[in-house]
Amino acid sequence: MKKIVIAIDGHSSCGKSTTAKLVAKEMGYAYIDTGAMYRAVTLYFLQNYIDFTNQKRILQALENIHITFERNPKTSRNEAFLNGLNVEDEIRKMYISDKVSEVSVIPEVRHAMVHQQQKMGKRRGVVMDGRDIGTAVFPDAEVKIFMTADVITRAQRRQRELLEKEEMVPLDAIIENLKKRDLIDSTRKESPLIQAPDAALLDTSYITIDEQVDFVLRKVAEKI
Ligand code: C5P
Repeated sequence: MKKIVIAIDGHSSCGKSTTAKLVAKEMGYAYIDTGAMYRAVTLYFLQNYIDFTNQKRILQALENIHITFERNPKTSRNEAFLNGLNVEDEIRKMYISDKVSEVSVIPEVRHAMVHQQQKMGKRRGVVMDGRDIGTAVFPDAEVKIFMTADVITRAQRRQRELLEKEEMVPLDAIIENLKKRDLIDSTRKESPLIQAPDAALLDTSYITIDEQVDFVLRKVAEKI
């Protein structure tokens, strides 16, 4: 069967990664969480006191950043590694969410990440989620989905995820973070978050995960 690229873009915390993972499992495809890559870069910048405006330091830092994904056999989850160290839990914390969009606007960071993502998906057979997959990373993706949901639903989801990791964050702070990230992500100069003209819109405010997955799989069935 023909292998394709499935691009899932959209706003923060609207269920992209949950949907993408399940679609990947169903298709036997690789799943690539591009947000994790920007989060890992942010972690590295913070740990190494990289000034977000110092282009020379940023370029040097990017040379030293190696991001990989490995399957954890215990959880069956793909986890992010930064220079060989498992950073899956650390990069989901609120202090990373607070800074990640500032790092993601840096053109040098975007070029490096997009290049890696294109290499990861060059044999196709991937589900990639992010903000610019259908517009910049794989503009030729066979299936493009643009996901959104109302901000309260998204914040509640995010709060539950953080609680599962024993981080208690008030809903207001999460709403503020989501709104701030959406604004920075959709107004940046370099590959902003926008719905590709050929992407199907999926609003997940009032539907179940199964319905989200079905929606994507139906789009896939039209293409293969
Ligand atoms: O998907 P997640 O919420 O983990 O992404 C974190 C941040 O990474 C986003 O808010 C955005 O700033 C950035 N990002 C991006 N391009 C992508 C994926 C994520 O700019 N393809």
